[in-house]
Amino acid sequence: MSPDERIVGWLRKASGPLSGEELARRLGCSRAAVWKRIAALRELGYGIAGRRPGGYALRAVPDRLAPAELAPHLRGAWRQVEWHEETDSTQRVARDRARAGAPEGTVVIAERQTAGRGRLGRSWHSPGGLNLYCSIVLRPSLAPGAVPQLALVAGVAAAAAIAEEIGRRPAIKWPNDVLIDGRKVVGIITEMESELERVAHVILGIGVNLNAPRSAFPPELRRKATSLRLATGRRVDRAAFTGRLLAALEARYGRFVRGGFASMRAEWEAHSSLTGADVRVVSFEGEVAGRVLGVDTDGALRVRRRGGNVVRILAGEVTVQHGYGR
Ligand code: BTN
Repeated sequence: MSPDERIVGWLRKASGPLSGEELARRLGCSRAAVWKRIAALRELGYGIAGRRPGGYALRAVPDRLAPAELAPHLRGAWRQVEWHEETDSTQRVARDRARAGAPEGTVVIAERQTAGRGRLGRSWHSPGGLNLYCSIVLRPSLAPGAVPQLALVAGVAAAAAIAEEIGRRPAIKWPNDVLIDGRKVVGIITEMESELERVAHVILGIGVNLNAPRSAFPPELRRKATSLRLATGRRVDRAAFTGRLLAALEARYGRFVRGGFASMRAEWEAHSSLTGADVRVVSFEGEVAGRVLGVDTDGALRVRRRGGNVVRILAGEVTVQHGYGR
């Protein structure tokens, strides 16, 4: 932890102002050095009241997801967080860290991405200071074929964290889009490196639109995407939400590794927007039209075709067919 993070941590916990002398003693430096750090923190946006002979008190923290702001909200074991003001993609950074041996649960967060990656080669619009962009290094002992299920697990976790935050249950559109009022609020991507039978690591990437106003979305996304703020009219505390999401994810990931996707299929189904809907699915194997019956214990989408036979779809893009003959 940097001296600045330690100062913020102590000021947060203190019941009253902390003197410069006390901070200097804890840091093992001079009072003048403490004063310089306080001035630097104020520059970063921390509201710190008080001055030299009296004591310092924390009045406000900046809206950032750096360790000093995030640490008080982290509840689980995933506490190794690397933060960037700007990067190309947290997926790329996390992959580099994983290749260099970073442990499971290493989290990479950026305020802004210049080349945010979406599924199927798309990009992920990532303006600064408004949303959450994070990638997590995972090392599950799973067969490579089971890895796509992780994206469903992340979808349930994101939906649960959002429900807790806004008091409304968002919908999940298979495999893992999370929607509010029919508009996408979360995007999830899993990228894996594996040997023949063994997963080396998975980089789980999650983007959540938190405080983005309508104007922050490019025109082509304005009807398809939303943010928690747009949906509720309230600003989200980004650091608190990030803590909530990581805790929800860590808990469900543990359950998944022990008990498989079957252990959270019911929770997934409770959020599913597709069960019972008539859909068209475009996958590598072609196109399927029919009614969604639900998901299987391995996360595959079960669809009954018009002729009556049931097919299992492992990957694909789903479009809901309005008015398709029920
Ligand atoms: C999707 O297409 O729905 C998936 C979008 C995933 C976006 C997140 S933002 C954090 C992480 N870094 C990236 O470059 N992409 C993922």
